[in-house]
Amino acid sequence: MQRMSVKLLLTPRSRRESMTEMTEYVLPQHANALGNVFGGQIMAWVDLCAAITAQRHAGHMAVTAFVDDLMFENPVKVGEVVHLRAQLTATFRTSMEIEVTVSGEDLSTRRRWPCVHAYLTFVCIDEDRKPIPVTPLLLESDEVRASQLLGEERRAHRLKRSRPPS
Ligand SMILES: CC(C)(COP(=O)(O)OP(=O)(O)OC[C@H]1O[C@@H](n2cnc3c(N)ncnc32)[C@H](O)[C@@H]1OP(=O)(O)O)[C@@H](O)C(=O)NCCC(=O)NCCS
Repeated sequence: MQRMSVKLLLTPRSRRESMTEMTEYVLPQHANALGNVFGGQIMAWVDLCAAITAQRHAGHMAVTAFVDDLMFENPVKVGEVVHLRAQLTATFRTSMEIEVTVSGEDLSTRRRWPCVHAYLTFVCIDEDRKPIPVTPLLLESDEVRASQLLGEERRAHRLKRSRPPS
């Protein structure tokens, strides 16, 4: 039984199965003195949305290991809406890369604008918090294969940055 569930966890899975969307209404408690959402609040939503995708994909606990550069392109104000979309882009041995795109929406006009874009790395862990193999991404189309290759390039770059040679 135990062995069967491990085998199931390591069966490649389509990224459609773990895609996550979240919608947040911006309230005064989310905002700074200018009435814009705090950057830290957006980062918390980004992490949460990506964590749901990571754990949906892996069927297991996963922790945030790395967040690539975040750029806040445009603000979102109180009374507007924040949309988040997280999608798996690549898997490695015990880690996986997730892309999150964030946009704002003015409900009165339905206008939408880009707000933030980020890549996060999550590591699949066991009950002792030790890294364990992650469910591979199913390379089911040219688009997903290209996504996996680009993810491998970004991973090499971030490991070089975060673990400089001693
Ligand atoms: C993430 C963590 C589990 C990695 O543990 P570790 O002992 O360094 O494990 P390893 O060196 O075996 O690396 C495990 C994986 O993490 C990846 N990793 C580790 N540091 C990384 C970094 N800075 N950037 C990207 N990936 C990283 C490794 O590349 C490896 O991935 P791979 O197996 O797919 O190649 C550990 O550092 C940790 O628990 N960090 C705290 C996590 C946390 O508290 N997050 C916030 C709350 S969820």
